[in-house]
Amino acid sequence: MLVICDMMGIPRSEFSTVLRATNVILGAGDADRLGGRDDVLGALLEAGMQLTSLMNELAEHRRVHPADDLTSALVHANVGEDVLTPSELAPFFILLAVAGNDTTRTAISLGMQLLHENPDQRAMWQADPEGVTAAAVEEIVRAASPVTFMRRTVTRDLTLSGHQFHEGDRVVLFYGAANRDPRVFADPERFDVHRDPNPHVGFGGPGPHFCLGAHLARRELAVVFRQLFSRLPDIEVAAEPVYLRSLGIPLVGGVKHLPVRFTPTAASAGSS
Ligand code: HEM
Repeated sequence: MLVICDMMGIPRSEFSTVLRATNVILGAGDADRLGGRDDVLGALLEAGMQLTSLMNELAEHRRVHPADDLTSALVHANVGEDVLTPSELAPFFILLAVAGNDTTRTAISLGMQLLHENPDQRAMWQADPEGVTAAAVEEIVRAASPVTFMRRTVTRDLTLSGHQFHEGDRVVLFYGAANRDPRVFADPERFDVHRDPNPHVGFGGPGPHFCLGAHLARRELAVVFRQLFSRLPDIEVAAEPVYLRSLGIPLVGGVKHLPVRFTPTAASAGSS
């Protein structure tokens, strides 16, 4: 969330507003995320409006005072009809903030949990961060599959894997199931930090909707685990994860809490 806000040029003083609002949008089925409110719709609308006015005000400011951020680049872009209109900017920001918030956070938490359940894999990764990180990050995204599903509408009649689809049919893609397809992955239930090849679809399938933030997410996961291993090398899971409650099938398999314990090191002991 901090990285996305910094990229967009959102002032640091507004970070907590963005965090709270995106938590409401993705976790409206969980009372903890509603801060004591019981009208889900009202909370959702308020969160959407907060993010919209924040972005509109920032865009207005950047039109006159450009800075080195994405908002300035977007409002001053000169790419003909592909440019985002003023009314599209806020929805784009909300999409970025929501798509990049719980996803990466959940991948980090479930990654920690997977390492806890597979100490041999953790030992291999921790002993060789340079050599293992890239493959381990892909394996976390495959095994955790933080985005649960997306929905599509079939645009033409076709037969796929022996199943007939008709134009207009609504279908749901369950990423976690595809990422455990035994026809694609050897021993799919095994968490293997060296898995290769690893053609997972945790960031979506090939095509125009492939995750816009995949490179950023990969980098964030790599940095987080490298830093954890070097600064808090004995960090370990101290209790079961607490999952986000949902009104239906959750879009993101969010983890609300994952208690961990560690020995504070000199570098971390002084900071909060
Ligand atoms: C581990 C972290 C992440 C995972 C697992 C993930 C996964 C996904 C998935 C499955 C999709 C849907 C693809 C499809 O519809 O076929 C998606 C779309 C998207 N993601 Fe991510 N994502 C992650 C992080 C991020 C981050 C950090 C950002 C923002 C910087 C981001 C921005 C987006 C956007 C904007 C879309 C919509 C793309 C479109 O429909 O054109 N994601 N992501």
